Amino acid sequence: MTTMDPRYSIGIPEMDAQHSRLFELIDRFRAKAADGLADDPAIAAAEDALVEMMDYVKQHFSSEEAFMERHGFPGLAGHKRKHRELEGQVNNLHKELRDYREGANTSKAAPLKLNLFVNVWLLEHILGEDGKYASYVLGR
Ligand SMILES: [Fe+2]
Ligand SMILES: [Fe+2]
Repeated sequence: MTTMDPRYSIGIPEMDAQHSRLFELIDRFRAKAADGLADDPAIAAAEDALVEMMDYVKQHFSSEEAFMERHGFPGLAGHKRKHRELEGQVNNLHKELRDYREGANTSKAAPLKLNLFVNVWLLEHILGEDGKYASYVLGR
């Protein structure tokens, strides 16, 4: 159980709780990916963790979109577009992992890239984009 780093709090408890869960799932995935993906069971474990993370990302995004809509956030359309982009990127990541498993991508860079990427994109999104609707909602 990781606790939410206060630096990543956007000040909306419901969303902070979801982000915190998301970080947990990311950490789990990264731990599996960091094992080096040396054999099939290791790859399968990483893939399971990635799929679980992807499912939660989808849930979180739709919950967040409903929240922004309820509060009449004017940046909703743009934020939704960013969510779809992130989903697309994470789908590509999943494909890379499958290619790696199937030997179509033998580059050692794949797991490393996977490992670093998820954390960075989510953090940037939470601190940047999510911070915008939070200021709007909290500021009025
Ligand atoms: Fe978010
Ligand atoms: Fe978001």
